[in-house]
Amino acid sequence: MSFPDKNLRSRNWFGRDGKDGFIYRSWMKKQGIPDEEFEGKPVIGICNTWSELTPCNSHFRELAQFVKQGVIQAGGFPLEFPVMSLGETLIKPTAMLYRNLASMDVEESIRANPLDGVVLLCGCDKTTPSLVMGACSVDLPTIVVSGGPMLTGRFRGKAISTSDVWRFTDQVRTGEMPGAEMKQAESGLCRSDGHCAVMGTASTMACMVESLGLTLPGNAAIPAPDAARKVLARHSGAQIVRMVQDDRRMSSILTREAFENAIMVNAAIGGSTNFVVHLLAIAGRIGVDLTLDDFDRFSAGVPLLANLQPSGQFFMEDFYYAGGLPAVIRELLPRMHASCITVNGKTIQENCSEAPCYEREVIAPLEEPVNPLSGIVVLKGNLCENGAVLKPSAASEKLMQHTGRAIVFEDIEDYKARIDDPSLPADENSVLVLKNVGPIGYPGMPEVGNMGLPPALLAKGVTDMVRISDGRMSGTGFGTVVLHVSPEAAAGGTLAIVEEGDLITLDVPARQLHLHLTDEEIALRKQNKVHRIDLHARGYVHMYQQHVEQAHLGADLDFLKGGSGSEVPRDSH
Ligand code: FES
Repeated sequence: MSFPDKNLRSRNWFGRDGKDGFIYRSWMKKQGIPDEEFEGKPVIGICNTWSELTPCNSHFRELAQFVKQGVIQAGGFPLEFPVMSLGETLIKPTAMLYRNLASMDVEESIRANPLDGVVLLCGCDKTTPSLVMGACSVDLPTIVVSGGPMLTGRFRGKAISTSDVWRFTDQVRTGEMPGAEMKQAESGLCRSDGHCAVMGTASTMACMVESLGLTLPGNAAIPAPDAARKVLARHSGAQIVRMVQDDRRMSSILTREAFENAIMVNAAIGGSTNFVVHLLAIAGRIGVDLTLDDFDRFSAGVPLLANLQPSGQFFMEDFYYAGGLPAVIRELLPRMHASCITVNGKTIQENCSEAPCYEREVIAPLEEPVNPLSGIVVLKGNLCENGAVLKPSAASEKLMQHTGRAIVFEDIEDYKARIDDPSLPADENSVLVLKNVGPIGYPGMPEVGNMGLPPALLAKGVTDMVRISDGRMSGTGFGTVVLHVSPEAAAGGTLAIVEEGDLITLDVPARQLHLHLTDEEIALRKQNKVHRIDLHARGYVHMYQQHVEQAHLGADLDFLKGGSGSEVPRDSH
């Protein structure tokens, strides 16, 4: 492929004469790069989130080599660069606190460098939205390559994965499972490269970028160690060069219709509730007007087709063998915007209309779904003035309309101190309320919303209770869990004034979350409430608390919304 008449952005660096061109090229040449690489080839940045502190992305240096092969094969000049990597399992207090920071790193790294197109290597939960958000704000031709899920875990002859961590934890708390046995399970859960092997947040994000049209078809489900993942990386490397040739930018793919498609697909796969905050943030960066209500509107009537944990039975490896996301999209095509264009220049219809399904127990047809309940329900009411979310496919049907008395935890430390106390006045009808785990209050909105139940109730066989918080839930979690309550307690939401014993009604069919107090009683309590917010005095967290938006807007920083394009106005050499 030749680019003789392309006005490549990178020419403003490598195409220059004199001192400037000398400096731009000379230091690069110490990496063994010959002259011809600088003579008009499109420069492709490979944005890598490899890190040994992000075990889900630990194979990305190898994966990047396959992307490079594809770029070179298609006539491009690949240059790999690192960005902040967010590992879900290690980062404290929560990786979500740093999603927006990583997105700033990505945005500025892309814009500041001589890149014509970008490949985003994404894996563990936050590495996908942060990279896509940052890239959207520059809007160059961009393709995503996901790292792929791990192989299914094994423990004592049984298939296991991340959702079992929650089950094991409850079993240890009730004495059903010895602690030593749980420790043994550690060695069987993560058997290979890749991210969590259920439809948790990482898999949800991989499906999100595929349904938005930002990846080649089939990207989401291929297991990390499968040779097909390497082939996909190679093909993606070649495709980004063609995208530069065609000047196919993110904004031409990420239309309002593409976002609506992603919401429908997320419903059909039983995707994570984290999908909501991340998709809203991405829409904000690319300038698409998406609201919380759109998630309910476009999920409505879409049944659960993918029988995957935590909403169903199987694992991502099974999903791949059954046909992966293209097989799900094929079922949904009559409802979707089938003419949306994707990174390979084809429509989603062209990519998926012939996609085979090899296992109907894993990917059900539209006429015989796994569960008619799916999607993300958006709740409104005096307890969540700007909304809250719930995932019906992971909840208990008998709790969908429920009234109970509140057991209130002022913060996560209060919860940890009292949940195992036998004198906690909770019964199976109680509603567990956790405050101050929102974006500002925690800060960073951790995944603590699916709080464990009191051991006394677990021992009685209670497996689910209504739980409400301004925090998030792991995509691998489950239960009748109301999340993302907005405004959060720390921002003066009604959640802040709920007291022990207050009556709360959750009515999912009516989309209502109601605190049984009059408007006057709520106003009076708010007047007398002394807010306890730990504001950080310095550093990134200080800036985050000053500028983070509420969950119903995507929890991005207010000044990061939109984009600044790829132009660099000043030139210092
Ligand atoms: Fe990385 Fe689950 S911990 S995807």
